[in-house]
Amino acid sequence: MAVVAIYSSKGGVGKTTIAANLGWCSAQLSSRRTLLWDLDQTDGAGFMFALEAQRKRQARSLFAGDVAAQTLIQPSTYAGLDMLPADGSLRELDSMLLRMGQRHRIAVLARQLGRSYERIIIDCPPMLNELSAQVMRAATLVIVPLPPSPLSVRALDHVVEEIRRHTRRPPPILPVYSMIDRRRSLHLEALAANPAWPTIPMVSSLEQCAVQRRPIGTFAPRTPAALALMRLWDGIERKLAQIAAAPVQA
Ligand SMILES: Nc1ncnc2c1ncn2[C@@H]1O[C@H](COP(=O)(O)OP(=O)(O)O)[C@@H](O)[C@H]1O
Ligand SMILES: [Mg+2]
Repeated sequence: MAVVAIYSSKGGVGKTTIAANLGWCSAQLSSRRTLLWDLDQTDGAGFMFALEAQRKRQARSLFAGDVAAQTLIQPSTYAGLDMLPADGSLRELDSMLLRMGQRHRIAVLARQLGRSYERIIIDCPPMLNELSAQVMRAATLVIVPLPPSPLSVRALDHVVEEIRRHTRRPPPILPVYSMIDRRRSLHLEALAANPAWPTIPMVSSLEQCAVQRRPIGTFAPRTPAALALMRLWDGIERKLAQIAAAPVQA
């Protein structure tokens, strides 16, 4: 089992778009039993997969142990991909986790979910708080989407610092340039500065995911953006294989 967290301290950088599409890639292209776990109260991932909004607002109860994950998990319309959706109750999750004082609560839940899933992809809220620290402790790998701007690079610095401060064994971080427009010189300079980072183009077909409420691979599979996301997923699988093969440090 591997936990892939899609995280940044900034909003609007492409986290939910990438998380939803990678969830689909994992289930449909790699045939992994995959759970897309939405921890952002705005419920963007559920919206992207056209799930019914949660009327009971029970998402937070999972963390206190009042509700079993199986009660909350919903199948998506895609084989191999299930959703653990968010709702407004997650607004108080951070303060609840602080009160509970269990620093590894999310990691423990992830391990339990890992009995049923090979890949858990977490769509994170744009926060630096106890919730994000707990996600970092649970993550096998952290993907940081980064539009090519100085403010986003600053957000990456925050993530790196956050992970160092809050984890004993920091998970590897993979920055990904999201929303690249090759007509802009600033974007080209950013690409030249970090040529090894994966890139996702800025294209309307990715905006369409939230309009059509399905992953790009289902309606525009041969476009550069769909292929970029597939390549990103392949790279993540390779990285996870390396992490799994690495000797465990004492
Ligand atoms: N590569 C992209 N090209 C064009 N629009 C994008 C791209 N990635 C995300 N968007 C759009 O940008 C907005 C923010 O994306 P979202 O995934 O919700 O970010 P976050 O989860 O970080 O807040 C959405 O309207 C989404 O459709
Ligand atoms: Mg989001």
